[in-house]
Amino acid sequence: MSLVTAVDLSKTYVTGQVEVKALKGLNFEIEPASFVSFVGPSGSGKTTLLNLMGCLDKATEGELVVAGEHVNALDRRQSASFRGSFLGFIFQSFNLLPVLTAYENVEYPLVMIKNESKSKRKDMVLKVLNSVGILDLKDKFPDQLSGGQRQRVAVARALVTQPKLVLADEPTANLDHATARNVIRLMRDMRDEFGTTFIFSTHDPRVMHEAEVIHTLEDGRLTHTEQGSDRRGNHD
Ligand SMILES: Nc1ncnc2c1ncn2[C@@H]1O[C@H](COP(=O)(O)OP(=O)(O)OP(=O)(O)O)[C@@H](O)[C@H]1O
Ligand SMILES: [Mg+2]
Repeated sequence: MSLVTAVDLSKTYVTGQVEVKALKGLNFEIEPASFVSFVGPSGSGKTTLLNLMGCLDKATEGELVVAGEHVNALDRRQSASFRGSFLGFIFQSFNLLPVLTAYENVEYPLVMIKNESKSKRKDMVLKVLNSVGILDLKDKFPDQLSGGQRQRVAVARALVTQPKLVLADEPTANLDHATARNVIRLMRDMRDEFGTTFIFSTHDPRVMHEAEVIHTLEDGRLTHTEQGSDRRGNHD
């Protein structure tokens, strides 16, 4: 069964008298444990689509099913609870809390949404910091870390609740090419290790090919779907 199914999915923003058709009838499916990118020029609808899949906004028309939930039908409280239990987010701007250490940033979602004991939380945080290769940086504050290291903290924070799906909107936009590719590969390794589905957006052609499936958006339409260079079983 697909993890995400979109049927004739549309989103129109209305501001005053102005309507913007940001998504125009998208149809696609995303398999569990896959590694998928949405690419396209600025304004093509990438963020809009990720916000819909992340239950941060509602579609205007069509059907969107995420992990068996018809997310358009959820009210605010149900959306919040669904986000907390099924989803992780990685943002372009990292969104780390500057007054918290790397360890505390990663621990934060566990404190917020789960009732884990302090020692259980510690086990979970240390394991995921180790997986993303920054255990030795756990006591550093964000402004003491490089862009790539901060993004590793953001990946760890998205994974610590063991979500089924991680959504990453332009996760490499502020990074140089080598660091960007490393972060994408790290996410793919995390998919391999935890079976988490990753969906990321980018307009960087150099990182989009790290995905197994690449969906291209143009002016709110899905115009092209291709297999990336690193299909599962095809990389070491
Ligand atoms: N909150 C909003 N209200 C009105 N229009 C919006 C809103 N958010 C996005 N739009 C419009 O919807 C369209 C799609 O925007 P979106 O942010 O999804 O594109 P994007 O592919 O993420 O672009 P970028 O690469 O610049 O991040 C654009 O025309 C944009 O101006
Ligand atoms: Mg965007």
